[in-house]
Amino acid sequence: MIVSISALKDHLDQEVTIRGWTTHHRKSGKIQFLNMRDGSGYTQCVIAIQDVGEAIFEKAKTITQESAVAVTGTVSQNPRNQQFELVVKDLELIHIAEPFPVTNKEHGTEFLMDHRHLWFRSKRQWAILRVRHRIVRAIRDFFDSHAYTLIDTPILTPTAAEGTSNLFKVDYFEDTAYLAQTGQLYLEPALAAFGKVYCFGPTFRAEKSKTRRHLTEFWMVEPEIAFAHLEDIMQLSQSFIHYILECVLADCQMEFEVLERDTEPLKKCLQPFIRMSYTEAVEKLRALGSDITWGTDFGGDDETILTQEYEQPILVHRFPKTFKAFYFEPDPDNHEVVLGMDLLAPEGYGEVIGGGERASSVDFLIEQIAKHELNQEHYEWYLDVRRYGSMPHAGFGMGLERAVAWICKLPHVRETIPYPRMLYRLKP
Ligand code: 4AD
Ligand code: MG
Repeated sequence: MIVSISALKDHLDQEVTIRGWTTHHRKSGKIQFLNMRDGSGYTQCVIAIQDVGEAIFEKAKTITQESAVAVTGTVSQNPRNQQFELVVKDLELIHIAEPFPVTNKEHGTEFLMDHRHLWFRSKRQWAILRVRHRIVRAIRDFFDSHAYTLIDTPILTPTAAEGTSNLFKVDYFEDTAYLAQTGQLYLEPALAAFGKVYCFGPTFRAEKSKTRRHLTEFWMVEPEIAFAHLEDIMQLSQSFIHYILECVLADCQMEFEVLERDTEPLKKCLQPFIRMSYTEAVEKLRALGSDITWGTDFGGDDETILTQEYEQPILVHRFPKTFKAFYFEPDPDNHEVVLGMDLLAPEGYGEVIGGGERASSVDFLIEQIAKHELNQEHYEWYLDVRRYGSMPHAGFGMGLERAVAWICKLPHVRETIPYPRMLYRLKP
């Protein structure tokens, strides 16, 4: 019977076959230890000459790191470490691997990134991408179970949504198209059809920045809700993050152990989040030694020092309109600020969510489009949201890779996505 390594525990004392790749091979006299991986987990196979006979024993000696092998044997529990392992009876060599470039010795980042397609076989990278997968599942479950309708928004778009400075241009027959910076503008019209919607897909920003937080292609999940205000989506972002944390804490213990990720700081984030206005955040930052002035956006360093001050994520709200996108609703109490919010993750991670309340007046939005030097003609369809049953509405976007980096406590987002795309990286 063919089983996965993760299922060995259900087959104690039974004869089974596992199929996978060799991570490590130790040979000593009359016994060999073959460490195997099949994607579901890791195990050790014990090959004793007295069990398999000389021919199979000799055949096993030819197995190299990353060879593909099918191993048949009896499942036993190692008395020392309680791990389930295989006492081998037979093996089939499916492919003997050439010398594998990614070894246990230290490799530089560039080398590893050039070998990303091989590197993600390693245990640490495997653990990270499994946590990513669990977060993706939590995201879908959260919105699907709260009556949101998935709206798939286009990747090829005719216009800018988040400023014109980081657009990827593509030839579109006789025309020019841009890769989507956000699905938001396409979600808003869907509200009047579905009430609560979300999109979840690849997003593109031609970021010239080389920071630990920036990719040029990343995945963003964006909920959008009709008849909602800033306060509603601040609460939503908190319950959404709480749900994701509950899922990973329940299901990713093994991965966190591989990553040596202390989960205590994540458990502290199950409490209510810290809240402060942008103005309060600037005061706090200046007290902490930053030279930020009111009216400018946080730098990466500002987010790092601010989030190191608190154990919970920080919801920063009401940003100056000077550096925010054209679509925000102004604060009725202070027209210098807009009803936007960012969620900053602790432990120095900074922004993982950005969002806010959208302008609902057509006249105000037309004014904004002009102020931002955008061509109104391209946004007529978007203005229609405000012409036919306009309503207060709000939403946010969470960058998946930033969330994974924080939850796994990684030094850089490049390890959070199978094939990272960055300023100087388009391969493999
Ligand atoms: O703050 P941003 O630019 O907001 C929007 O795009 C809104 N339209 C979302 C909305 O309200 N529906 O981006 C949202 C999030 C950021 O908080 C960050 O997590 C992630 O997307 N993000 C990036 N992640 C990796 N690399 C980049 N270059 C990113 N740019 C944004
Ligand atoms: Mg933002």
